Amino acid sequence: MKKLQMLYLSRKDIEEIDISMEEIIVAIEKMFELKGRGLVEMPPKPGIHPKEESFIHAMPAYIPDMKSAGMKWVSGDADNTKKNLPYTTGLIILNDPETCIPICVMDATWITGKRTGAANAVAAKYLARKDSETIGIIGCGVQGESNLEALMIVQKNIKKVFAHDSFLNKCNDYISKMEQIYPNIEFKCVDEPREVVQNSDIIVTATRLLKNPKKIIEPEWFQEGAFGAPVDYDCYWKDETFDLADKFCTDDVAQLLHTKEQMHYFQKINRIHGDLGEIVTGKIVGRENDKERIICSNLGMALSDVSTGIIVYHKAIEMNIGTWLEL
Ligand SMILES: NC(=O)c1ccc[n+]([C@@H]2O[C@H](COP(=O)([O-])OP(=O)(O)OC[C@H]3O[C@@H](n4cnc5c(N)ncnc54)[C@H](O)[C@@H]3O)[C@@H](O)[C@H]2O)c1
Repeated sequence: MKKLQMLYLSRKDIEEIDISMEEIIVAIEKMFELKGRGLVEMPPKPGIHPKEESFIHAMPAYIPDMKSAGMKWVSGDADNTKKNLPYTTGLIILNDPETCIPICVMDATWITGKRTGAANAVAAKYLARKDSETIGIIGCGVQGESNLEALMIVQKNIKKVFAHDSFLNKCNDYISKMEQIYPNIEFKCVDEPREVVQNSDIIVTATRLLKNPKKIIEPEWFQEGAFGAPVDYDCYWKDETFDLADKFCTDDVAQLLHTKEQMHYFQKINRIHGDLGEIVTGKIVGRENDKERIICSNLGMALSDVSTGIIVYHKAIEMNIGTWLEL
């Protein structure tokens, strides 16, 4: 029998490979197009919950066109921040679709950060106003960074970014870091989330997933023509504010309905316009005018992980990075 090997890629390896956000956005948009055409396989993610404010989810997906099959095993724990540990961690396993044999195990943290921002950038491309000038970031952590990085690629008229975090020092550190990367953009750290929402054409909330969240965003803060991109599910926006949206979209309707049924999230969501696969393929319309308030709450898809993971894997082999392990 042939000896079997798989490649192990640590977070450091993946950071060294450093595929660009532009490349990830292209892959994610292509994935949404294939999804919209029904050319992918992805069951809704099952999960276990060892502690009240924690999750470990299994996320399998297959994209024949990208020759990518695999699964992410991802966890989030709200207590980790206090222990100086990352909120989100995990592994991605890739399998060879020809033989179904595992070919790679890689750290999922970097990819999760980047692909979530990239999926929101695709959402903003179709659902935010093209002339958007202001971005609001609530939650200045990993997602706060990657969402801004991705949005700056697809939105060409951004002039000012408002940021808020429950820890002022995190907001200030975020702004110092972002000012270095985007010297031509004006940054403002604000105490009040209201100021962020009222002044922003695009609002990303990336706080925490909580069982009993204190929902903050009031309907009157959410301006006409604005686009909301909560990655923290429905934990930060009041139900009435979600209800005010002319269109409520997501990355995968089946997954949102599954999450609503099986978990405590999105209980008040009744009108779903559709998902990004349908929008990217033109099966349903995206933004129709400058007045619509639109929300797209992406829950995160295994399809995004395997479409990004396969690029990282091929680059690792090309660059001779990683550790080969016997199966
Ligand atoms: N939908 C997806 O695809 C997806 C993917 C990855 C992460 N997430 C979610 O995104 C969120 C952020 O993840 P992360 O990796 O950036 O975490 P992180 O810990 O790096 O950052 C979270 C930031 O939010 C701040 N924060 C927490 N509660 C807040 C509040 N009430 N008001 C203001 N700021 C607050 C924290 O201080 C921290 O700076 C989590 O809820 C995570 O589950 C979603």
